[in-house]
Amino acid sequence: MIDCILDFDPGVDDAAALFVMKNAKNLNLLALSSVSGNVSIENTTRNMQCLANLLDIDVPMGKGQPRPLIRQPYFASAHGDDGIAGFRKMIESENVRDLDSENSVEMMHEIIKNSSNKITIIAVGPLTNIALLLRAFPQDKEKIEQISIMGGSITYGNMTSLSEFNFFVDPEAAKIVFESGIKLIMAGLNVTQLATLTETQMNSLNEVDNKKAKFAYNIIKYYVSNDTGIHDPCAVMALECPEIFEMEDMYIDIDTQSQETRGMSYRNIRREKDGEFNCKVITKIDLDKFGEKLLDSLTK
Ligand code: BDR
Ligand code: CA
Repeated sequence: MIDCILDFDPGVDDAAALFVMKNAKNLNLLALSSVSGNVSIENTTRNMQCLANLLDIDVPMGKGQPRPLIRQPYFASAHGDDGIAGFRKMIESENVRDLDSENSVEMMHEIIKNSSNKITIIAVGPLTNIALLLRAFPQDKEKIEQISIMGGSITYGNMTSLSEFNFFVDPEAAKIVFESGIKLIMAGLNVTQLATLTETQMNSLNEVDNKKAKFAYNIIKYYVSNDTGIHDPCAVMALECPEIFEMEDMYIDIDTQSQETRGMSYRNIRREKDGEFNCKVITKIDLDKFGEKLLDSLTK
């Protein structure tokens, strides 16, 4: 079992990642942490609480950072105004649990410090919380087994022609994480943009008569009309079922400079020639298996 914390900015595909997490056989979820990203921190945090209630997930929940380390917040329109395609009202309930922490960086630190096992972090939003954790509590690094990230790309971007959303939003945070020396897995756009549900799979999802599946169908239907890639579950599946991916050791750098390359991830070939690698980058995905696994998680 892999002990893990999920840091996310729900977000429709973040919600899909939580469905996969809930049904994972090899992952032991210890906590949830929200971050500003697809929508404001107030919205991502409320979505986290409502999703945890919907999925019966009873782990500590912490509210994360309200803005990137240096830059102004930047939101994504593909997820609708509330971040879950306008469907939060469908899962609001008086049973939604209160937050356990108003500062998820401190919450993660406490969990990492007190755990006898090494902890894996799955981060599928901007890397603000994770970078702060590493800066505020550098002693935690040796207790972090690895970080599985959805972000970046080794081909094209979705914010600029070169930059992916999560790294574009907080490039400085991404740089800190990629320079941390911690083992990283990167599920970048080069594979996640292809990861989606077929029309047949969407129809099957629509036929399932329970609240979770109805909610999942509605939010994904809205979302895929804006962005066909259901990105975030890839970072969860990279740990749960790594056999559906091919990964390559690379040295990934993050650009924090100009407009077009803001947050761009790129291979540093010189460092690779010197035998330096900081990341396992997913280069191939079995799309059939991805779809099957996602559909299975959404319909349970
Ligand atoms: C990433 O950006 C967000 O909109 C998604 O939730 C995903 O984490 C894809 O670029
Ligand atoms: Ca996300």
